[in-house]
Amino acid sequence: MRMIVRGARLLAADRPALRTGLYDVEVAEDGRIARVIPYDDQKEPPATGVRIEAHGGLLTAPFVEPHIHLDTALTAGQPRPNASGTLWEGIACWSERKPTLTREDVVDRATEVLRWQAAQGVLHVRTHCDTTDPALTALDALLEVQDRVGGFMTLQIVAFPQEGIVSFPGGEALLREAVARGADVVGAIPHFEDTREDGVASLGIAFAVAEEHGLRVDAHCDEIDDEQSRFVEVLAAHALRTGLRERATASHTTAMGSYGGAYSFKLQRLLARSGINLVANPFANLNLQGRFDAYPRRRGLTQVKEMLAAGVNVAFGHDDVMDPWNALGTGNPLQTALVGLYAAQLTGADEIPVAFSMVTDRAARVLGLPEAEYGITEGAPASFVLLPAPSPLEAIRRQVRPRYVVSRGTVVAETPPAPTRLSWPGEPPTETDFGRPSTLNPHEHLDT
Ligand code: FE2
Repeated sequence: MRMIVRGARLLAADRPALRTGLYDVEVAEDGRIARVIPYDDQKEPPATGVRIEAHGGLLTAPFVEPHIHLDTALTAGQPRPNASGTLWEGIACWSERKPTLTREDVVDRATEVLRWQAAQGVLHVRTHCDTTDPALTALDALLEVQDRVGGFMTLQIVAFPQEGIVSFPGGEALLREAVARGADVVGAIPHFEDTREDGVASLGIAFAVAEEHGLRVDAHCDEIDDEQSRFVEVLAAHALRTGLRERATASHTTAMGSYGGAYSFKLQRLLARSGINLVANPFANLNLQGRFDAYPRRRGLTQVKEMLAAGVNVAFGHDDVMDPWNALGTGNPLQTALVGLYAAQLTGADEIPVAFSMVTDRAARVLGLPEAEYGITEGAPASFVLLPAPSPLEAIRRQVRPRYVVSRGTVVAETPPAPTRLSWPGEPPTETDFGRPSTLNPHEHLDT
């Protein structure tokens, strides 16, 4: 045996519900999960391999980042800050930074953020990469990073035409060249194209390229507070008619926060039928949308709760890390889940665990990770995170960092516990980790 995790909580088959009891997870020499068996504190396991005591912590499949921009990360303030805080000025700042890109610059920044994400339990990442650059410098750099991390992380690269496919000179040729060089997913940005017609045409091109090369589609779609921006219906129709269905994703779709009831109803039905995924990015959406509103000011998010209820797969992404669109961030998925659940008002007893699934299982579906390869099940790769919290709710509430991050049977990150020593007046010093569990959800009553 290569490793054993002793006494962990697991999610049930119908995740994100919890399984009752504690479990041992045994990892075989080939880096796959050999056995998942009930924990017996009287029974001593074989003294071979790495032994991890879970102490009732939650062992889950790794976090999944369905939407990040590794090429723009860590460039905030370069060459100037985004003074208005709008999406549009952010794009202008980035287009000024773009000509100074070098391969080493992008490799260095992208790798740094991936290191942060791995340390926080993210082992599967979809990054967008701006292809509206005649040199495709960032793409070549990210392909190099993909090679370097491939042994323990999944890195999908979206060919993302930040300044348009139709409206940017040579945009389609650059998109096609990016795919030829090895991009995994085809992107688009229809709301940024010069006209409605250009936007529709750009989605037609993106789906055609994806079909020609057997790739997925992930478009930045309707990232604007304009109720007239309705490209998601075009994307969904393409997904239906080409058969790409769940292999297509609409990211952002913030305009959906401005649609009226009648159109929203029609759209929910279409999106559910189409099988497409939605990715909301709460940091960017809260920050960038509503900037042209007086009051009342819109929240800036897509219809997360309503689309989940309609049966659409919705995930949460981090999007930007210290770049022209978000000055802050460490790539932390539990922070994304926390901000996302407040922004979308997923605060009900059964909704908070759903927010956890939006940075794990639901995000895994966006990337198309095979079900047999993602989860704590026998035969799956031994890739998991051990959280020092007994449930998804507690992990989000306490914003814990994984105690261990394991990829294919090897520990890649370890964070020792760091309780706070509290000297309460009149009492001897004690340690606290804010761990008294919630009583919100009776189905998650914990028996420790
Ligand atoms: Fe984005």
